[in-house]
Amino acid sequence: MKIDQSDHSRPKRLRRRDFLIGAGQLTAGLALMPALPESAFAQTVIKGKERLIVRSIRPEDLETPVSLLNAWITPNDLFYVRHHLYAPKVDVNEWKLTVGGEVQNPITLTLDELKRAPKHVVTVTLECAGNGRAFFDPPVPGIQWEKGAVGTARFAGARLADVLNKAGVKPTGQYVAMNGADKPLGKMPDFIRNIPIKKALDADTILAYEMNGEALPFLHGFPLRVVVCGWEGAYSVKWLTDIQVIEQEYDGFFVKTAYRFPNRPVAPGEAVAPQDMIPLTGLVVKSFINSPLDGATLAPGKIRMSGFAWAGESNIAKVDVSMDNGSSWFPAKLGKERERYAWQSFEYEFDIARPGSYLLMSRATDDKGNVQPVAPWWNPSGYLWNVIDKVRINVKA
Ligand code: MTE
Repeated sequence: MKIDQSDHSRPKRLRRRDFLIGAGQLTAGLALMPALPESAFAQTVIKGKERLIVRSIRPEDLETPVSLLNAWITPNDLFYVRHHLYAPKVDVNEWKLTVGGEVQNPITLTLDELKRAPKHVVTVTLECAGNGRAFFDPPVPGIQWEKGAVGTARFAGARLADVLNKAGVKPTGQYVAMNGADKPLGKMPDFIRNIPIKKALDADTILAYEMNGEALPFLHGFPLRVVVCGWEGAYSVKWLTDIQVIEQEYDGFFVKTAYRFPNRPVAPGEAVAPQDMIPLTGLVVKSFINSPLDGATLAPGKIRMSGFAWAGESNIAKVDVSMDNGSSWFPAKLGKERERYAWQSFEYEFDIARPGSYLLMSRATDDKGNVQPVAPWWNPSGYLWNVIDKVRINVKA
């Protein structure tokens, strides 16, 4: 599957919204089926992902329940899944990676050849740009992710820079376009993404063939995916088969239309002209509470609150927590496990003696001084939800 640099298969009338609505209808269809717990769908249909919430059954869009996001490294069977197209079955004996475009020597590599390059490991928090979309008001079409389209894994593979250097990038090469073996359905555009050459040559941008010590699982892009550290998940192209070094930003739907954010604050519900939309890049500062769970009933006394915080290419400086509607804030203790692009755990022990209903909150700040906002930055595709997290608990004697 080649990246077509001339045709730029941008559909005339198909908009992202059209096929996201299609996916939504599929989910709506599921909602009409007999009342099974959501996890029951995954149990019968999607092997290896039994405990995930099914947001769309095909293509598979699976969310991790927050209660299971309680370890620094998310196990492969609990890692969320996001597909735009149907997942392809790849025969590793046939599979090849081609590298071409603005390079001195176009190359083709087998998996074994790629594995001969030095192996680099990155521990990365991968988050879908649409994580939290369900909370925007007015609502935005698209997969209605709540809090669990995020996870942290140890990916291992070859540095993209090593492969690009082997091919020899020409001075004209400004972007690296990446395509996977998944094929578009009907008139849908192909899922082709690009990264600026600087990020492509970053020592932590890898072509991963392992995830948490195992061969990359099928749903996560077997046999090879890109991992672009700190940037929203859509850059990390799965089932990678083709890399093209190009002179200008790729002119396809998933670069020029999708995964863009207004270049100025907009009113909720406002339409934004395409020329005012800029590409998403790094993930924003964010946290969530994984314990107690929303709606929990707890005995008065010591109540331990915990969660994770991350900030894309930045580091977490602090996480503050509150139990009184945000009237007072206390610094949480940050966990010791720390890696450049991975989330950090936090915890705090409240002492709540008086029975009643309490709103617990977490608010992360990164090392550039960015703080989670009180209200969302509404945007037409519902990206980058990062409002202060909240759970309501009931303290009962
Ligand atoms: N790669 C391909 N080939 N096709 C896709 O649909 N989805 C992207 C990205 N890579 C996608 C893809 C999106 S939107 C996200 S958020 C991440 O993969 C999700 O990675 P995961 O499914 O391994 O969690």
